[in-house]
Amino acid sequence: MTTPEQNEFKGRFSLLMDCGAMNDKNWLEGEVKHRTKKFLQLWQHKQKGMVYTISPVTYVQLKENRKGTQKEVLEAAKEEDINTFTVIKSDEKHHAIIDERGVILGYRYHVKPELLETLKETTADLPHTGVNAGKRGNYPTRHYTVWRDYSKEPYESADYRKELPASKEWCDKNSELFEYLSDGLRMISPMTYVRYRGARHYLQARHNLQPLCGIWFGVAINEVVTGSTGTHLDFNDSGYNCVVPWGEYKGGALVLWQLKMIVELEPGNAFFFMGSLIAHNVGEIEGVRNSIDLFCHKNVLSWKDRCDEEWRGNMNE
Ligand SMILES: [Fe+2]
Repeated sequence: MTTPEQNEFKGRFSLLMDCGAMNDKNWLEGEVKHRTKKFLQLWQHKQKGMVYTISPVTYVQLKENRKGTQKEVLEAAKEEDINTFTVIKSDEKHHAIIDERGVILGYRYHVKPELLETLKETTADLPHTGVNAGKRGNYPTRHYTVWRDYSKEPYESADYRKELPASKEWCDKNSELFEYLSDGLRMISPMTYVRYRGARHYLQARHNLQPLCGIWFGVAINEVVTGSTGTHLDFNDSGYNCVVPWGEYKGGALVLWQLKMIVELEPGNAFFFMGSLIAHNVGEIEGVRNSIDLFCHKNVLSWKDRCDEEWRGNMNE
């Protein structure tokens, strides 16, 4: 007899193996099964006592409703009364927001303190040369990413190139954090992980480019945000954004409109969520809040799909 837990473990193990989510670990062939099991056990150990909140809308509904313009989607989402929203309080335990079919729409946990410390220090060391920059100035958001905005082929964003070599150093110094979060995504959504990874080979082979933040193509770095932010959808993103805030602040929770939820985010929380489907904003902040937002633009993935098609076409010739 197998218990429901054993069945669940089996299912998750099979998915990891079948979709190839562990392939880039480059483990010896004879060790893959064993090490995947260990990896999954470790993740489940970290999840001990985790809490689930069920979303009133499903992933499929969110996708359906996103078909309008960004404005229409936002207006519909904002009809909800924020005072009735469920507040997901801060907690040491992992917290997942799932729909009735078990699809993960949001996932929160704490990152290792030493990784947050590095993020803090390296971000403070970044050059602040913008027009608004002053000691306490409102620094603009920077984007260090590979993307394909207004272009046929992928390229490194202007901010990244302009701020070299500091931008590359920042990415390198935080690589452990990005790998840690990428391992999180690997377990939260193995299929998303594999989809993002599918672009890696083409980026390297065709343009000598690499994703800049672990499995994600890039990051938005938001410094010294002091007010609430406007409600928006990250229409250009695909899959799961991952947000990590830090600083000395109170408030700054993330409002998820269609889900009717408010997620408290403490300094050092990582929150994975579908920013392209869920209208969101950061609530009132007391103090100073910084954050990174890891993302993959859809346009790089559509380019990757085209590369796949070309490759398959060549194979069939
Ligand atoms: Fe966003």
